[in-house]
Amino acid sequence: MDIFRTKSVEQSIRDTEAPEHQLRKRLTAMDLTVFGIGVIVGTGIFVLTGQVAKEMAGPAVAVSFVVAGIVCGLAALCYAEFASTIPVAGSAYTFSFATLGEFPAWVIGWDLFLELALAAAVVAVGWSGYFASLLASLGMELPASIAGDDPVVNVPAVLIVLILTSILVAGIKLSSRVNLVLVATKIAVVLLVIVAGLFFIKGANYTPFIPEAVPTDRVEGLKAPLIQLIFGVTPVAFGVIGIFSAAAIVFFAFIGFDIVATAAEETINPQRDVPRGIIGSLAVCTVLYVAVSLVVVGMQRYSELSTAAPLSDAFISVGHSWLATIISVGAIAGLTTVVLVLLLGQTRVLFAMSRDGLLPRWLAKVDPHYGTPARLTVLIGLVTMVLAGFVSFGELAELVNIGTLFAFVVVSVGVIILRRTRPDLPRVFKAPLVPLLPILSVLACVYLMLNLPAETWLRFVIWMIIGLVVYFGFGYWNSRQAFSREQKARR
Ligand code: ALA
Repeated sequence: MDIFRTKSVEQSIRDTEAPEHQLRKRLTAMDLTVFGIGVIVGTGIFVLTGQVAKEMAGPAVAVSFVVAGIVCGLAALCYAEFASTIPVAGSAYTFSFATLGEFPAWVIGWDLFLELALAAAVVAVGWSGYFASLLASLGMELPASIAGDDPVVNVPAVLIVLILTSILVAGIKLSSRVNLVLVATKIAVVLLVIVAGLFFIKGANYTPFIPEAVPTDRVEGLKAPLIQLIFGVTPVAFGVIGIFSAAAIVFFAFIGFDIVATAAEETINPQRDVPRGIIGSLAVCTVLYVAVSLVVVGMQRYSELSTAAPLSDAFISVGHSWLATIISVGAIAGLTTVVLVLLLGQTRVLFAMSRDGLLPRWLAKVDPHYGTPARLTVLIGLVTMVLAGFVSFGELAELVNIGTLFAFVVVSVGVIILRRTRPDLPRVFKAPLVPLLPILSVLACVYLMLNLPAETWLRFVIWMIIGLVVYFGFGYWNSRQAFSREQKARR
């Protein structure tokens, strides 16, 4: 069985030129950077900062952001090289098809579902939380059955996915315009937190900067990070170990820069602009995160931070609830763009997979009127609505992280392989220090993965096993690569 059949880079690029599968090329480096920031700044900074500072890292959460940022930076350089060599929709999926073969590509495509659709649902639920709390502050309380901590159906989450799906069907340029307004609001609010927050910092809140490690019952058994179980140590929170456990969680805040690569095919000059978009958006976000987290833990003692809305609640704690309301509005705008771009990325990955025949090919039809893969977009929208409406997430952000880190590992390995197998390809952007840098990227990602809870690993493995069943039940037999191989054999 030839499950490692690769698809040549030239073939990948040719496929994008078939008229019925052609996406419109309209995006620039600026659009991509905005897309990147649009999907990166979200639940991670607006919600998780408080939780990890309070439960895992204390004021040193800022260091966790630096650690996660470095890991992402290494992977970003690998993504940038790939995107400049293979400017085709599908990101990590397409990259692995060109280097490792069809089966590994399927594994990655399947894995990306965890990063994209699942994350879109997680963030839609976060959006709903902020939305409900804003309405409550205006005196309009939503019933507990449709919003809040444990609703029967999370109606605002479903509605936001519905609206954004319609925008995506209508066309990518419209989406990037909507995105631009929302991203501008979000960045303004993040800057507001940093600048206004500076006036309320109390030096005493920074000591101890790294709280002493304490054994914790919160992370027992399967909930403990795998690395702590492997080495048989008593699970601890805080201390230096806590900084790394926290880094594996706040990693969620950086997810998105890689999604810029999924829009390569719609970019006017992808070889030059995709690497710029990826690295630019990651750099801006890292600086913002470190600044925001330092300010927030300076404003309020880490043990008192709120876990639902730490940024706005920090301002309530210093007596400025009007600022808190503005921040809630910004968070809502911010989370909207995250859901939007995650949905966009997911449609583009599945688009590439159906075009290759690994999923039904009729899914990849581009709508003649809108120039977007409308069928797929509607399908993804529906799946995400169900996930966002009915599933209670909490720990699933960790599942998103493990899926994403796994994709980073494969892409980093792929860079080394493609340099060996296709040294001739033009690479407008080259990652420095290959193979050292991709190897470091792999090690760093695996290390963060090991810092995730054992139960997350279990869920990840189960999802991947389901993927194997689907591949051997459908994709293997219907792949276009399989057809072309058969034709060659017959000739
Ligand atoms: N990075 C995105 C967020 O933090 C997924 O919401």
